[in-house]
Amino acid sequence: MKFFIDTANIDQIKEAASYGLLDGVTTNPSLVAKEGKNFRELLGEIVKIVDGPISAEVVSTDYEGILKEAYELAKIHKNIVIKVPLIKEGIKAVKTLSEKEIKTNVTLCFSAAQALLAAKAGAAYISPFVGRLDDVSTNGMELIKQIVTIYRNYNFKTEVLVASIRHPLHVVDAAIMGADVCTMPFDVIEKLFNHPLTDIGLEKFLSDWKKLNQ
Ligand code: G3P
Repeated sequence: MKFFIDTANIDQIKEAASYGLLDGVTTNPSLVAKEGKNFRELLGEIVKIVDGPISAEVVSTDYEGILKEAYELAKIHKNIVIKVPLIKEGIKAVKTLSEKEIKTNVTLCFSAAQALLAAKAGAAYISPFVGRLDDVSTNGMELIKQIVTIYRNYNFKTEVLVASIRHPLHVVDAAIMGADVCTMPFDVIEKLFNHPLTDIGLEKFLSDWKKLNQ
């Protein structure tokens, strides 16, 4: 399973990349706004740190506007993936972009029906938001199971990119279900390493070793 980081923060991207396990980056308008930097310049920095798919989201909601933004963003670097919202105009744009071999990541997916549309339009990635579904008392991971099954049934090439991840269990469940990618906030990547028994065990090994006085 591929690991992406879900942030536009350069320090977090650098730190996560230093572990050697980072395959890509996803951003969204809220994450970019938090950094208060020029979007294009920020993307220029990110592509230098991570050699993998970097999702950059459009903010237009009409077909022509989405395409215009997509072509501009795609020019920045070969690894830029155009993130497009799951609306009618967005799906139309995804179809056109995929015909031109420009990769897309369809975002704000909350149902299996929506995921089916994105795959038929030729999206490279679908981003179902599991945490936001959990927030409204709907099982987000159940949606991942449905999408993985549907895509396998028809051999769709669209990769299932689990988004809106809130904790390590989302990641483990996604891996069990066979999702292609998890995009995680920095704190979730950090939490994947942790186990109290590892800390206790290491402390004991080191203190026993000290007693040997070697
Ligand atoms: O980038 C899309 C998604 O991962 C957002 O997550 O935590 O804002 O629901 P969240």
